[in-house]
Amino acid sequence: MKFTVAIDGPAAAGKGTISRAVAARFGFEHLDTGLLYRAVGMKGGDPVLSARSLVPADLARDDLRSLAAGQAASQVAALPEVRSALTAFQRDFARRDGGAVLDGRDIGTVICPDAEVKLFVTASAEIRARRRWLELGGEAAFETYDEVLAQVRERDDRDMNRSDAPLRPAVDAVMVDTSDMSIEDAVAFAVATVSARL
Ligand code: CDP
Repeated sequence: MKFTVAIDGPAAAGKGTISRAVAARFGFEHLDTGLLYRAVGMKGGDPVLSARSLVPADLARDDLRSLAAGQAASQVAALPEVRSALTAFQRDFARRDGGAVLDGRDIGTVICPDAEVKLFVTASAEIRARRRWLELGGEAAFETYDEVLAQVRERDDRDMNRSDAPLRPAVDAVMVDTSDMSIEDAVAFAVATVSARL
């Protein structure tokens, strides 16, 4: 069976947690497409060549979740040749047998416009920055909350305003605003949406 769940949205909206939970619940494979762009950004050198020569070891680096990697990712992600070098891999993954969940920015709009389920997960910038700051260690984090908020805003702005595959909901995406939702409620909503379509 081929079944694709596309989960898009801005930084730290809860896409990763929801995607992993949906994949586990239905036995689908999960691809965090942001990791591809983070790996290209951190590899250094010519980003187009890096995207074309990405290997599994690049995705296993332990610094891919850092704020610096997020910033580097959103810079290389604005380059059309970088995006096109990563497209086939994502599309093949989406149509694998047994079902797939992909989370990112352009899954429902560009990578998998025919996905069986599309979710667009959002939350206010302040709430997303607080979640990311807590993930980074809260009071023990190297960055202050204000610095994390500034970076979240800068990345949102770049992702929404680039000309190639800008961040925006697909016309047929189901919107999920997690600002006032517990993660359990957000997961339950996503699971119910997928169940209804299966
Ligand atoms: O985890 P978080 O939401 O903070 O970021 P991510 O999903 O790992 O994505 C990092 C950056 O990669 C984003 O800010 C985008 O610029 C880029 N990205 C993209 O352009 N397209 C995707 N499908 C996934 C990520």
